[in-house]
Amino acid sequence: MTSILFDAALNDYAAKLSTPQLPILNELERETYRKEMQPVMLSGHLQGNILQLISHLLRPRKVLDIGTFTGYSAICLAQGLDENGVVHTIELEEERSEIAQKYFEASGFSHKIIAHYGYASEILNTLKEPWDLVFIDADKPNYAAYYDAIFDYLKIGAIIIADNVLFEGRVLLPIEEQGKNEKAMNLFNEKIKNDKRVEVTILPIRDGISIIRKIAL
Ligand SMILES: C[S@@+](CC[C@H](N)C(=O)[O-])C[C@H]1O[C@@H](n2cnc3c(N)ncnc32)[C@H](O)[C@@H]1O
Repeated sequence: MTSILFDAALNDYAAKLSTPQLPILNELERETYRKEMQPVMLSGHLQGNILQLISHLLRPRKVLDIGTFTGYSAICLAQGLDENGVVHTIELEEERSEIAQKYFEASGFSHKIIAHYGYASEILNTLKEPWDLVFIDADKPNYAAYYDAIFDYLKIGAIIIADNVLFEGRVLLPIEEQGKNEKAMNLFNEKIKNDKRVEVTILPIRDGISIIRKIAL
């Protein structure tokens, strides 16, 4: 995805001079663009590299990926896992889960990725793990609910990454022109800013990514 928050030529320059994505992710991206109506939902090269980097820095044992889509983010997050680590990923749409599963196997990470199929809110009730790293990238109106559902299970020092927090720049629209997604993102961003148990930085790249670190119970 080319960011609307960032000049297209600069975006291409940054991509060209960054470590390329894995060949299997190139294939996954091509299939996603052939089969999906909204392929830009996929994290893509630069954001994928950031997910991969954070995973390598944390060496996590328990990773949660909310919104699998065709599997791009789960494969990036799996890169830095501790040797006993595992990624749990949740997706609502069956066809997307099937594409993702094919690429989990082709990537060599299928033994480290546990794919759940269904509503994230329901599946989270069954997954009470001590999360080291969480990526929130599903339906925007539920971001705050997902945050609340996982927060108590996060270790101190754990990182939550939330995607699309600037929602195509539409978070800046006058309130009466905002749709449900940008309203939800504004409420989520305010909630995190006011939560004294975390530190947060919003990176204005791509569609806006929040990096949130748990510092207190
Ligand atoms: C933006 S895409 C995720 C992209 C993916 N993380 C990546 O980097 O390629 C959002 C995904 O969340 C899924 N989704 C939306 N609402 C959901 C829900 N309530 N429960 C589980 N998955 C949901 C959608 O079907 C979609 O595939």
